[in-house]
Amino acid sequence: MTEAELYTLYKGVYVPSHLHPAQSLKYYEDFTFRPDDIVIVTYPRSGMTWMQEIVPLIMSGGDPASVETLPNWDRVPWLEENRACMLNLEQRPSPRMFSTHFHYDMMPASFFEVKPKVINVMRNPKDVFTSSFHYYGIASFLVQPGPQREFLEKFLNGKVMFGSWFDHVKGWLGADNKERIMYICYEEMARDLKDSVSRISQFLDKPLSAEVVEQIADRCLFKNMKKNNMSNFSAVPREFMDQTKSEFLRKGIAGDWKNQLTVEEVEYFDNFYKDKMKDVKFEFAWDLD
Ligand code: A3P
Repeated sequence: MTEAELYTLYKGVYVPSHLHPAQSLKYYEDFTFRPDDIVIVTYPRSGMTWMQEIVPLIMSGGDPASVETLPNWDRVPWLEENRACMLNLEQRPSPRMFSTHFHYDMMPASFFEVKPKVINVMRNPKDVFTSSFHYYGIASFLVQPGPQREFLEKFLNGKVMFGSWFDHVKGWLGADNKERIMYICYEEMARDLKDSVSRISQFLDKPLSAEVVEQIADRCLFKNMKKNNMSNFSAVPREFMDQTKSEFLRKGIAGDWKNQLTVEEVEYFDNFYKDKMKDVKFEFAWDLD
C-alpha cells in the first residue's frame, strides 16, 4: 500500500492513519499539560521504548512493578496515539509520564504555556535508518520499505512517518525552554547506562542510591529488557507487527549501520548529513565514521 493509503499528512509530516485518527490528533491539540509532567521525545527508532523503561523505574525508586504491570504504551502513553484519549490521563496522579514523536513546532499550545520537563533522546541517523528499514518491513500500518536505496532516499527527505530526522532533531535542539529539556544520545546510554540513569534521575529531581541506579541500569540492559513482556511488544498481534521477521527490540547496539549500508550509501548519507547539519553546534555522542 502507498503513502496516500496508509498515512495522513499532519502539520507537514506523515503519521500512520491507523494509529492517529483525526480525533486522537484533536485530543492532543487540546491536551492540558501540568508543570511536573515528564515528556519523552524521540524520532521513531531512537530509544523511546528504552526510556519508557528507565523513567518509570527512576520515578518509582527502582520498583520493578513500575514496568511489570502495564505495557509501555499505557505506562508512558504516546499522546498522539489513538489509545491516549481512552486512558483517563486527566485523572492520573502527578508526575505523569508521556511519550511523543512530534516535532517541537507540532507541540500543542499548552506545552509552550506550561513547560513540562522533556527528555529528548537522539540517535545516530544511520542507525535510525537501519533500525527503521527493518521495522517498516514488519509493520502492516507502514508503507513497506522496498529496496534499501529507495528507502534511504525517502528517509533522508522525510517521506516517512514523522517526517525528516533532520527537522526533528534540529527543531528540538532549537527549543526555547532549554533548562526544562535534557538532551541525551542513545550512544551515551549504550556506552554507560549507569551514568545515564544517574544523570536522568538528577534531571528528574529523583536522587537515587548507587545501588538502585545499578539495579535500574541492569534491568534496562537490552538482554534483560527484552525479557519483559510488558516492554517487548510481544502482545502486539502478528498481523499488525510480524516479529517473526524482525523483532521490535532487534539488536540494541550502536553502529549496526556498518552492517547495513553500502560504501556508496554511506558516502551519500554522510554528504547529506554534513549539508543538513552544518549549522548545528551540538556535540552528538555518535561517530559518523
Ligand atoms: P534496533 O532496531 O537497532 O535494535 P524506539 O523504541 O524508539 O522505537 O527504538 C527502537 C530501537 O531501540 C531498536 O533498535 C531497539 O532494539 C532499541 N532498544 C530498545 N531497548 C533497548 C535497550 N534496552 N538497549 C539498547 N537498545 C534498545
